[in-house]
Amino acid sequence: MRVLILGGDGYLGWPTAMHLSAQGHETAVADNYLRRNLCREVDAPALYPVPTLSARCRLWKEVSGRDIASFVRDLRVYEEMAEVFREFRPEGVVHYAEQPSAPYSMLDRKAARLTLDNNLQTTLNLVYAVREFAPSAQIVKLGTMGEYGTPNIDIEEGWIDIEHKGRSDRFLFPRQAGSLYHTTKIMDTDMLWLYARLWGLAVTDLMQGPVYGIVTDQTERHPGLRPFFNYDAVFGTVLNRFVVQAVSGCPLTVYGKGGQTRGYINIRDTLECVHLAVENPAAPGELRVFNQYTETFSVLELAERVRRAGSRLGLDVAVEHLDNPRTEAESHYYNPAHSGLTNLGLVPHLLDEDALVELMGVVGEFADHVDPRVLRPEVSWK
Ligand SMILES: NC(=O)c1ccc[n+]([C@@H]2O[C@H](COP(=O)([O-])OP(=O)(O)OC[C@H]3O[C@@H](n4cnc5c(N)ncnc54)[C@H](O)[C@@H]3O)[C@@H](O)[C@H]2O)c1
Repeated sequence: MRVLILGGDGYLGWPTAMHLSAQGHETAVADNYLRRNLCREVDAPALYPVPTLSARCRLWKEVSGRDIASFVRDLRVYEEMAEVFREFRPEGVVHYAEQPSAPYSMLDRKAARLTLDNNLQTTLNLVYAVREFAPSAQIVKLGTMGEYGTPNIDIEEGWIDIEHKGRSDRFLFPRQAGSLYHTTKIMDTDMLWLYARLWGLAVTDLMQGPVYGIVTDQTERHPGLRPFFNYDAVFGTVLNRFVVQAVSGCPLTVYGKGGQTRGYINIRDTLECVHLAVENPAAPGELRVFNQYTETFSVLELAERVRRAGSRLGLDVAVEHLDNPRTEAESHYYNPAHSGLTNLGLVPHLLDEDALVELMGVVGEFADHVDPRVLRPEVSWK
């Protein structure tokens, strides 16, 4: 299948491109380096330098013999999205190309505006490009578990059957975001559902939890193929940040009491979930939703696991509770369904001590690159 990865330079996009290419799919990546530019803007360097998109594609060709086509384009601009579609003629599109940081979206009005414009425009342009150039192509869109918030009832996989005054119908599960970033993901979902109904688009929405990890089968083939990796308080996700804090001798920064519970997923499983979704497409007119996480942990449980794994490596890991910069419940009910992807064949990589020790090993190579300044949260939801 010809699969186009929008946001293919990113933390998840690049490893996904290699994973699909390794499975024999003809793969292309499109990106405008927004993520790299925003990291420069907030002065939060990645843990290690990564080559440009075209250099990565050359490196992948050297180690695998396979081509990945690359397009440096701003997908907010319809003509640039259209050019990629005209040249590559995708049969499947994986949409990662968004501003993905909740703290960045809460930084100030300009950052909020960029998040809103960027995320909704890339999605709208995708919808129109599929209709114009690839009407039978399926869309696999990355959503987030954060769209659901933390309701006091079980979270279903996307849809809920409601009975009301003797009648019943099926609706998207209620969503209540905790940041502007998450709100844009809700708006994306609503937009895709509209066009699935109107134009018969085939859409899979992968409601993903925070991802952790660096190592995949493909990154092990050359260090230059490792994903872009942030550990700072704006762009780093929590477990990646904890691991960096542990190996660099900084305390793990738990926000508030640390009872916030979320569903987490290993990067290897993210790639496999996208692979499974691409090879088992939604039907035309369907918005299929999968909750893409494998295990739930509270933030404090994660910190405790990192501390225990660290002590196996002789690290003395401290845990520090900070005033929570976010507005969120610190103890709450959390029970989301997540059987859809396992039913398609996902075999999860769970977060055991070996997985943490492996990640600490790779991250530890760069312990002297870590800038402790960027580990403290500066963005407040208030
Ligand atoms: N990483 C996670 O833990 C996580 C969890 C849940 C959901 N997600 C979702 O997965 C997707 C990818 O996340 P990620 O962590 O890889 O983020 P990322 O920032 O590393 O990747 C997104 C990529 O899209 C590119 N991009 C953004 N706007 C663009 C535009 N207008 N034109 C071209 N390229 C553009 C960026 O430059 C970046 O390389 C996002 O949509 C995010 O919301 C990520």
